[in-house]
Amino acid sequence: MQSIKVKSPATLSNLCCGFDILGIALKEPFDIIELTQRDQKGINIQHLDDFSLPTDPAKNIAGVALQSMLDALNYTHGFDVIIEKKIKPGSGIGSSAASAAGIVVAANQLLGNPFNKKQLLSFAMEGEVLASGSRHADNLAPCVYGGLVLIRDTASLDIIEINTPPLFITVIHPQIEIKTSFARKILPTEIPLRSAVTQWANVAGLVTGFLQLDYALISRSLHDVIIEPVRSKLIPGFDDVKKKSIDVGALGGGISGSGPSLFMFSENEKIANQIELEMKTVYNQLGIDYKTYVTTISNKGVEEII
Ligand code: HSE
Repeated sequence: MQSIKVKSPATLSNLCCGFDILGIALKEPFDIIELTQRDQKGINIQHLDDFSLPTDPAKNIAGVALQSMLDALNYTHGFDVIIEKKIKPGSGIGSSAASAAGIVVAANQLLGNPFNKKQLLSFAMEGEVLASGSRHADNLAPCVYGGLVLIRDTASLDIIEINTPPLFITVIHPQIEIKTSFARKILPTEIPLRSAVTQWANVAGLVTGFLQLDYALISRSLHDVIIEPVRSKLIPGFDDVKKKSIDVGALGGGISGSGPSLFMFSENEKIANQIELEMKTVYNQLGIDYKTYVTTISNKGVEEII
């Protein structure tokens, strides 16, 4: 095999109470990455989108991730890379993670799978650090592993895969920009014990709800008393979207990653579509452009397009 094409999915991180430790892969949207082996050393990147991302591999998230993998292999040849990003950078649904994870999973498969998922994640992390300036794996890990994952420890990349009941997911991406680095800088560095107790009770409740396929428990646990009160101020329409979505039957939801995208979980597609309408109404009234998705969980993560 000399060439491979993969789709690399968007991801939701945090899932309200699980800041930096929970993430889930979505079926849509996804980037498309095509990799072709070549004899000459080096990585040649071409973008088929309009996001003006750097093509210099040392400045490109995918390039940095792939280079870190090739360094570990002492690889003497190179790759031509074609990237079509459909996940807009700065959307809060794991655009940089899709680039970094997609390219290393694709290259690994092309090279006969020399690395396991944990090793791939550590290569991809180099790209994510370039993007956000911080080491967090809650978008990368679901992209590499698929489904819902818990990052129990980021330093050692202790990744726990968690089963889920079927879920429908509605996402709205208001077309405003929030930089992850800024959205992290404004967070409190100390939190009251009472808030911490509420938060870890909800994380435990949420994970138990997923494992026991208990929608009511998932719904009761989808709360964030630490991050959301700070970051939601950056997102016009946040309170309205949340209230209206819950009124029409959402299990719950909140900010996707560092925003500005918002997500809502629901038990069935009818409710998910209704939530989409409510979200659109809020942003139409605000006069802010948006993109919406009604989707489900990708249990595969990055996957080859045959
Ligand atoms: N967990 C990270 C954050 C995800 O919320 O800052 C950033 O996409």
